[in-house]
Amino acid sequence: MTMERSLAAFSFALLASLASAVVLLVQAQQNPGFISIDCGAPNQYTEEYYNIAYATDEGFIDSGENMQVSSEVIYTYYQQYSKNLRSFPTGTRNCYTLRPDRGKNVTYLIRATFWYGNYDGKNQTPTFDLYIDVNYWATVSSSVYFYEEITYVSQADDIQVCLVNTGNGVPFISALELRPLDDDISPSGLRFLHLHWRYDIGRSLNYSMRYPEDVYDRIWEAKNYNKWIILNTTSAIDLSVNDDAYKYKIPGEVLRTAQRPMNASSPFYLVWPSIITNKWIVYFYFVEIERLTSGQQREFTISMNDNQFRETVSLEYLKPVVVVSTPVNGWNITFSIESTNKSGKPPILNAVEFYTIGDLPNVPTAQDDVKAINDIKAMYHIKRESWQGDPCVPSKYTWDGLTCSYGNPPRIILVKLSSSNLTGEIVSSFSLLSTMEYLDLSNNQLTGAIPETLAELQNLRILNLSGNNLIGLVPEALKKRVLDNTLIMSLTGNANLCQANPCPQKKKPKKILIPVVTSILGFFLVLFGALAIIWLIKRKRIPESSERTLRSKNRSFKYGEVSRITGNFGRVIGEGGFGKVYLGTLDNGTLVAVKMLSESSKQGYKEFHAEAQLLMIVHHGNLVSLLGYCDDSRHMALIYEYMANGNLRQHLLEDHLKVLTWNKRLRIAVDVAQGTSMRYAQL
Ligand SMILES: *[C@@H]1O[C@H](CO)[C@@H](O)[C@H](O)[C@H]1NC(C)=O
Ligand SMILES: *[C@@H]1O[C@H](CO)[C@@H](O)[C@H](O)[C@H]1NC(C)=O
Ligand SMILES: *[C@@H]1O[C@H](CO)[C@@H](O)[C@H](O)[C@H]1NC(C)=O
Ligand SMILES: *[C@@H]1O[C@H](CO)[C@@H](O)[C@H](O)[C@H]1NC(C)=O
Ligand SMILES: *[C@@H]1O[C@H](CO)[C@@H](O)[C@H](O)[C@H]1NC(C)=O
Ligand SMILES: *[C@@H]1O[C@H](CO)[C@@H](O)[C@H](O)[C@H]1NC(C)=O
Ligand SMILES: *[C@@H]1O[C@H](CO)[C@@H](O)[C@H](O)[C@H]1NC(C)=O
Ligand SMILES: *[C@@H]1O[C@H](CO)[C@@H](O)[C@H](O)[C@H]1NC(C)=O
Repeated sequence: MTMERSLAAFSFALLASLASAVVLLVQAQQNPGFISIDCGAPNQYTEEYYNIAYATDEGFIDSGENMQVSSEVIYTYYQQYSKNLRSFPTGTRNCYTLRPDRGKNVTYLIRATFWYGNYDGKNQTPTFDLYIDVNYWATVSSSVYFYEEITYVSQADDIQVCLVNTGNGVPFISALELRPLDDDISPSGLRFLHLHWRYDIGRSLNYSMRYPEDVYDRIWEAKNYNKWIILNTTSAIDLSVNDDAYKYKIPGEVLRTAQRPMNASSPFYLVWPSIITNKWIVYFYFVEIERLTSGQQREFTISMNDNQFRETVSLEYLKPVVVVSTPVNGWNITFSIESTNKSGKPPILNAVEFYTIGDLPNVPTAQDDVKAINDIKAMYHIKRESWQGDPCVPSKYTWDGLTCSYGNPPRIILVKLSSSNLTGEIVSSFSLLSTMEYLDLSNNQLTGAIPETLAELQNLRILNLSGNNLIGLVPEALKKRVLDNTLIMSLTGNANLCQANPCPQKKKPKKILIPVVTSILGFFLVLFGALAIIWLIKRKRIPESSERTLRSKNRSFKYGEVSRITGNFGRVIGEGGFGKVYLGTLDNGTLVAVKMLSESSKQGYKEFHAEAQLLMIVHHGNLVSLLGYCDDSRHMALIYEYMANGNLRQHLLEDHLKVLTWNKRLRIAVDVAQGTSMRYAQL
């Protein structure tokens, strides 16, 4: 009964998760490549009117608070996404990180929507700045619902939209949307355009057209000029793939309405007052939607700002024509559309978009540095208000604790993370900050060994690791840098760090470890291991399933965990027949040697498994203990207790500083022969 019920519950859960997976899949297919965030929303949902799936902020930003517009105004706008917002009372710069499927070097439409809606009850509209990656986008200051929209070509996989507190109120945002566009609809070479107006001319209904009619989810605002005549048609617009106009993917619905002047001798003439001096780009959309008597053709000339741009267009019935102006300068933007003498028909206009060309003066930090410092941030769970957006740029928002050089591109040259509660090992990402001159990690709880790779940082002048719990030998390469006077290194207050080689004797009994099976020794070990089993079978019952022992006594690790405890495989301490051996630290601080089975290993999976099983059965004071294992299908690892003094081979074969006495060598040989010493732990 219970069994049946739990089985039923299980299948239900399975069905439910399958169903939600299907829903997600359908949504993904409905909105290909879209990122739609309803900032401040408690749950994700699908906006039914447009059929767009909106996500919450989760995974896009860590900071901020979810809020809702005042209940007095909440019904003013019907869009669900305008009703919630996320506000940022703390931190100067708060950034959303968008990672579009199509990656970098693709043109994206990015739209940020704002509706203050007196959410804080103060009735005081804040003013703040909006940034796209490292560059200024807009200043936001509006008491009414509005949005800022740009087309933008990103040079990195991530796109960051940042809200910057300029001391004039708490920044907030209501929605953030990203849509991939086909590259060639932006005039070539223009990576940043601001939308000012986008009009569907001649539409008498006053709702805006957007997705799914517009596959790019552009919002077409209905616009009518009283002085002109409205035209509309129900005929299908000819949007064939071979047309020049096709790539702009203008919805037929938008093109089916238009306006025209009264007669051929009166032109369209419009002045758009503007407070900005930027260069303008205007997209004009035309389609002939009046059935003209044969022999007649509409033909007209567009001219902008004193003929800075001029082009003549003639139309064919239901065939769209798109004209993109060249950049035009001026305070006001003026354009006229005038019939040519031979036309005899007044001009027409179906839709129009006005953009200004944005500046991208700031260059982002070198991508390798960005990646390394973000990995460091993630691995040590660093939570600092300023650690958002680009680490160095703009310079006034540089992350707290970093100093950068501002060449092209900017680089990180100083990292000061002293007294920052850092735990775990010194991760290899530090060694990837290749122009770093100063690294201060003093007064943390860092454990493990000092990575030798730090010595590869050519510009490193000061390395301060004092006041941690580092262990092991100080890498020779770093010592050499100190001797050469190219590095000042501070290691005080690491009680277990060994600064001289060989290390001074400790009171504790010395441990010698052989976590590393070298190929010579490996042969004997497998042989003697087999002997050990036989010997053990004689002495005591073998557990019925060594597999089960493996699972029960030893912890199973996921590959991700193995990667984490080894600091992303940052410190190699040896190499054996199976592959490399890495130093690691468990969460409780225990040092471990992690032996990975490499894909190119000559000894294979079977032997690896055999070794694991043997070690499960055989427990002896002379054996290094196995603490855990990882058996993901593609990655196998054995995790041993770490012994700081190297392996037996070094002690036996090499002219090691502490030569083993013949007595000890004999004892080892005898022990091995007796099968108790497949792995020597202590001497
Ligand atoms: C970006 O894409 C354009 C074509 O869309 C190509 O010509 C250009 O080389 C690309 N740039 C980079 C850096 O990949
Ligand atoms: C088309 O024009 C007619 C009247 O001229 C108007 O009633 C109708 O709403 C218009 N359609 C659109 C989509 O604007
Ligand atoms: C147009 O919008 C106004 C408010 O802006 C509204 O009162 C009116 O009913 C709308 N008209 C139509 C036809 O939707
Ligand atoms: C054309 O329209 C203008 C008004 O826009 C008017 O002044 C003019 O007389 C009209 N011309 C003809 C020939 O109808
Ligand atoms: C811009 O246009 C307005 C009228 O819309 C006009 O008053 C103003 O003088 C124009 N400015 C310039 C610089 O042409
Ligand atoms: C149209 O004709 C008038 C006179 O007939 C002439 O002055 C004008 O320059 C012509 N315009 C164009 C664009 O050819
Ligand atoms: C470090 O951790 C302690 C206790 O968890 C906390 O009080 C302190 O604020 C932290 N310091 C920093 C710099 O994060
Ligand atoms: C290293 O850091 C400690 C503590 O923060 C400080 O006292 C010491 O002067 C620093 N050493 C160097 C070489 O900067």
